[in-house]
Amino acid sequence: MMSKVFELIDRLESCHSLSVEEYRYLIDNYSDSAADYAAKKAVSLRHSIYGKDVYIRGLIEISNICKNNCLYCGIRRDNRECSRYRLSEEDILACCKEGYALGFRTFVLQGGEDSHFTDEVLCRLLVKIKELYPDCAVTLSLGERSRESYQRLHTAGADRYLLRHETADKDHYEKLHPSEMSFERRMECLQDLKEIGYQVGCGFMVGSPYQTSEHIAKDLKFIEEFKPSMCGIGPYITHQATPFADMPSGSFELTLYLLSLLRLIKPDLLLPATTALGTIHPKGRELGILAGANVVMPNLSPVSVRKKYELYDNKICTGEESAQCRQCLDRRINSIGYTIVTHRGDPKK
Ligand code: SAM
Ligand code: FES
Repeated sequence: MMSKVFELIDRLESCHSLSVEEYRYLIDNYSDSAADYAAKKAVSLRHSIYGKDVYIRGLIEISNICKNNCLYCGIRRDNRECSRYRLSEEDILACCKEGYALGFRTFVLQGGEDSHFTDEVLCRLLVKIKELYPDCAVTLSLGERSRESYQRLHTAGADRYLLRHETADKDHYEKLHPSEMSFERRMECLQDLKEIGYQVGCGFMVGSPYQTSEHIAKDLKFIEEFKPSMCGIGPYITHQATPFADMPSGSFELTLYLLSLLRLIKPDLLLPATTALGTIHPKGRELGILAGANVVMPNLSPVSVRKKYELYDNKICTGEESAQCRQCLDRRINSIGYTIVTHRGDPKK
């Protein structure tokens, strides 16, 4: 049985493709030795493309106001305990200024689906950021919008868009979201983003409620076929003020294993060691890099709002200043023999 796991990992390393059943076999037969084996191969593949470089992105959480009601999410519309905020254009530009001085060359503007951020508001902001920092990339992560909107934002300067697909299984999608959201719409958005020319990121939560190994296998197959530039995966972490308050959080070890498999599926993938990974394990981000990730996304949001962007319980880095987060991550990444680099961090071939 074990030998079949190793054989599939070898095949994934050379062909970057398996069937859904084979991915499922790899997940169902998880073991520490299989994870170590996959991690070694993932790291050597990553080294051949990215060396020991780790890319950083400055995450600016621009608003926690959201019209959506995703059942797992701490800032969902119906969470009355969440104290809402929205950053002004001035606030966001101040974050960029601080981030630039700290060596960030990518800014990620993330937030709930807040109707204040119309195309007009965002385009004006994008043009300003690009004028002030022409050597920087801007990533948006603002949920579902129309194709026309994605097009306008791209024309105004947005380079990348992160929209996790959340799950590649329609029935599972419907268990995680209220009926006003649709799996087909999510997939259509991802397709639109790609066709427009963004560097696109998709992704999913490991251990989300009702998730099975078959769902994860479908996620891996979807990622293999969609070929995103980036892929955000992290453990699902329970938030006490959501309908899933009684559901357990996802597995740290399985997340690391999946990071390794994703690296084998797409060797040049930009793969973050996420804040959620750092939240469920004190060395989560370092171990994520050692499993095959190559990106970290420290927080650049003003400290005054950080606790309010609480997607899940006990989120880390909510009390520190941006400069402290940057230094802390530098130390962490250096401690495992890697180096944070100061450039846009586009995918390499
Ligand atoms: N509104 C945008 C969107 O929907 O893409 C961006 C913000 S949304 C909060 C960013 C990501 O956070 C989601 O795609 C989801 O995967 C993740 N997330 C939300 N709740 C989470 C939880 N309880 N545990 C782990 N990750 C979570
Ligand atoms: Fe909108 Fe989570 S429900 S960001």
